[in-house]
Amino acid sequence: MSDSLDLAAFPADFTWGTATSAYQIEGAVAEDGRAPSIWDTFSHTPGKIDNDDHGDVACDHYHRWPEDIALMKRLGADAYRLSVAWPRVVPGGDGPVNAAGLDFYDRLVDGLLDAGITPNVTLYHWDLPQALQDRGGWTVRETAEHLAEYASVVAGRLGDRVTQWATLNEPLCSGWIGHLEGRMAPGLTDLTAAVHASYHLLLAHGLATRAIRAAAPGAQIGLVTNHSTIEAASTRPEDLAAATRMDGHTNRWWLDPVYGRGFPADMRELYGVELPERPGDLDTIAAPLDWHGLNYYFPATVTDDPQGPVPYAREVRLPDVPRTGMDWQIDAGGLEALLLRLTDDYGVRKLYVTENGSAFPDAVGPDGEVHDPDRARYLEQHVGACARAVRKGAPLAGYYAWSLLDNFEWAYGYDKRFGLVHVDYATQARTVKTSGRRYADIIRAHRQSHA
Ligand code: FCB
Repeated sequence: MSDSLDLAAFPADFTWGTATSAYQIEGAVAEDGRAPSIWDTFSHTPGKIDNDDHGDVACDHYHRWPEDIALMKRLGADAYRLSVAWPRVVPGGDGPVNAAGLDFYDRLVDGLLDAGITPNVTLYHWDLPQALQDRGGWTVRETAEHLAEYASVVAGRLGDRVTQWATLNEPLCSGWIGHLEGRMAPGLTDLTAAVHASYHLLLAHGLATRAIRAAAPGAQIGLVTNHSTIEAASTRPEDLAAATRMDGHTNRWWLDPVYGRGFPADMRELYGVELPERPGDLDTIAAPLDWHGLNYYFPATVTDDPQGPVPYAREVRLPDVPRTGMDWQIDAGGLEALLLRLTDDYGVRKLYVTENGSAFPDAVGPDGEVHDPDRARYLEQHVGACARAVRKGAPLAGYYAWSLLDNFEWAYGYDKRFGLVHVDYATQARTVKTSGRRYADIIRAHRQSHA
């Protein structure tokens, strides 16, 4: 119950929000001048997505955004984390700006502000224009430069009203899952491509940070990364070493360079791939930030796997632990630990949880309601973990629940539902779930605790 949560731990101006991303909810993929992204290509490649689902219509948010803003208001949320679709704004990746694409986000931002909801805008949530992929995508340096040009266009247009900006969402997924594991667009399985992509993604982050600062003075800029706490499956030295490698692959590779430590030497050696470095890049990548966004879903326990893929550490499936419908282990303690690591180890001075949530196979019941006690419990446990981290000194300024709506869950398609609001894809009817009402209660109770 929210009564037992230590909500007074959170400062009075703590931000409560929900999050989504463009390709997962917008639909309207061929409207008003939008060009294809790598996710259009990937999702239309047979066999890549469960049920061969794709984002052509998704939640039809492109047309239904006023209703979706009304839902945010019903939840009582103060903020909304959205992403801008690069292929709407600069359809070719570089070159001409598509005014109609930019106009959509202009209307959306005005609608949010009219409703008293603060927009937090992510520039890149994985939907690279296909035209840039055709020229090498993240494996080439030019893509990083084009992201900065596009960032400057968007910040130039919206920066008079939007103050909260994130450059990238989860570069780990673009880099490792998209180029090494192949489970996400562009679907490559090539270590050299993956390491080069990871480098150019972080470079793009740094270049975009500079571009946003120039285009929108006063912007509060962050990077959104996803992390897991990593445990060794045993105290065997091989497993402990595997855990160090997995921590490097999942956590340090994406944080050390951003916080001025360069790319971790042990991982450079393990990958054995020369980085496409140029003088000055590390300073660009380590550009000072105003905040850091942590996306947290699950912890990992790993064992040595010398014959397996990089980083030669394999996840073991713990028996008898609670799991979500994604089969992800539920462990709110991991969120607390990662918030404290960012605070104590990396010296981050302002943090947001930019995503956290759970998928369960919910359905609208005969009473017209969606009862999802498991998601409500997950939410409470993780808000509780945030409160503990704050009590221990983490400078946490807000929490964004993933997600406002059920949506296109990438390679899993529409079967995995993460929303606080249920979407019936046949009718586009939205139904606030029990967990959505619980979130509204938490937000209200927090406000009262400071009244
Ligand atoms: C994160 C993504 C987000 C969503 C959640 C469940 O990795 O950033 O788009 O798919 O997972």
